[in-house]
Amino acid sequence: MSPEMTVLLVIFLLHCHIILAADPDPVQDFCIANTKTNRFMNILPCKNSSDATVDDFVFSGIKTAGNFTKTGFSAKSINPTVFPGLNTLGMSFVRADLDVGGINAPHFHPRATEIAYVVQGMVYSGFVNSANRVFAKVIEKGEVMVFPRGLVHFQMNVGNSPATIFGSFNSQNPGLQRIPAAIFGSGIKEELLEKAFGLSPREIGMMRRKFIPRELR
Ligand SMILES: *[C@@H]1O[C@H](CO)[C@@H](O)[C@H](O)[C@H]1NC(C)=O
Ligand SMILES: *[C@@H]1O[C@H](CO)[C@@H](O)[C@H](O)[C@H]1NC(C)=O
Repeated sequence: MSPEMTVLLVIFLLHCHIILAADPDPVQDFCIANTKTNRFMNILPCKNSSDATVDDFVFSGIKTAGNFTKTGFSAKSINPTVFPGLNTLGMSFVRADLDVGGINAPHFHPRATEIAYVVQGMVYSGFVNSANRVFAKVIEKGEVMVFPRGLVHFQMNVGNSPATIFGSFNSQNPGLQRIPAAIFGSGIKEELLEKAFGLSPREIGMMRRKFIPRELR
């Protein structure tokens, strides 16, 4: 093998490693994100560490719930763009609130495992493995469930008061794909969806109107 080929192979293998691994390890104590950049990078650039203060490591934005959606759900996802102190640390978190009967529709995070701690309430929680076996039960205040990376999971408030969940991810950018929107709200050809689900054009049309964002219709 020529030296050039060897170099290319090594670069390729290093690249594979980066893709297969979780977030890269930090190379400094911390790297408070400079969110004023408009460069698109894997990890945000740091601000000068001499300018860091304790407030760079404290986040106060999840003391209260957000507004509920029509399905009785609210989520505040906290990543380095809203909490710059998280940058390069390989984690992020979410505060989720569920109204009585509210649901967090089936979804998955392609880049992170999640642990979900029930702060208050009774929550039917579960995930589906790649053999389509469901692992679900009602968990209550103080209990934690783990949702393995990349697997579809869901939650529903089955108690008679609002529920609050604190979720933590082992990536600073876990990603989120909601199944209903990914299937019916993404513009996949209707004929394909009709065949996949065995539904009529009218039924597929109904589903799409529900999930396609208004501006794309
Ligand atoms: C960071 O800030 C310190 C103190 O103000 C300064 O001496 C240093 O040059 C700065 N580093 C960079 C890379 O700007
Ligand atoms: C929630 O709704 C209220 C009233 O409509 C609005 O003022 C507020 O900005 C909303 N909060 C969020 C986080 O969207």
